[in-house]
Amino acid sequence: MELKDVIEQRRSVRGYLHKPLPKEILTRILAIATRAPSTKNTQPWHFYVVAEEPLEQLKRANVERFRSSEDPPEEMAHILIEPEKGTVYRERQVDIAKRLFHVMGIEREDKAKRMAWMERGFRYFDAPAAIILAGDKSRPIEGIYLDAGLVIQNICLAAVDFGLATCIENQGIIYSDVIREIVQIPDDKRLLVAIAIGYPDWDFPANQVISPREDVENVITWCGV
Ligand SMILES: Cc1cc2nc3c(=O)[nH]c(=O)nc-3n(C[C@H](O)[C@H](O)[C@H](O)COP(=O)(O)O)c2cc1C
Repeated sequence: MELKDVIEQRRSVRGYLHKPLPKEILTRILAIATRAPSTKNTQPWHFYVVAEEPLEQLKRANVERFRSSEDPPEEMAHILIEPEKGTVYRERQVDIAKRLFHVMGIEREDKAKRMAWMERGFRYFDAPAAIILAGDKSRPIEGIYLDAGLVIQNICLAAVDFGLATCIENQGIIYSDVIREIVQIPDDKRLLVAIAIGYPDWDFPANQVISPREDVENVITWCGV
């Protein structure tokens, strides 16, 4: 597959086939992904790959925690910062949510269906595996976020090349205390993001959504070109 086709075909997939993912494929994807550049070649990433029973446990614990309405741990506060009202960022956030809810038949007022949708996210969209990306706390978060982004995108692109799909998820790490306990992630590691990964179920309605992009000319300032 040509790289530009892989980039164009990647999209967030929120419905997966119940088909286990061989460990060898996950290893190959992560090996390719870690060819990502990083600041001073620090490679500030560690992957916790969760599947089978521990993943089932994690899904149950996340959902239970969500239903309890207890706040996420303070260490995750930065993830909860929403785009400001009245900005284009907020508009785009609302737009993608509307598109997903529309194809999923979720009405704005239907609280039960909205909750069920949130719970899917806490269940890593029922993917057969979830990758929890962590960084070392000895590195400041500002220092590792860019590097993490590069390896994350590589994972998502390599997955497409293997006939797989992904969904990057902040939601998947928000209850960091639950995740730390089940996955045994020590306190000196910072949870950066979760990635649901598996074989895509193209019959799942949300997977039909292709998120729009701003016209590229609107995000370029040419200087001397
Ligand atoms: C850092 C990050 C966190 C995200 N967290 C979530 C999430 O918690 N739940 C979710 O459904 N999608 C999540 N997404 C997916 C975005 O909604 C998605 O990338 C965006 O709408 C663009 O759509 P596309 O990935 O299909 O191109 C996240 C993406 C990124 C990059």
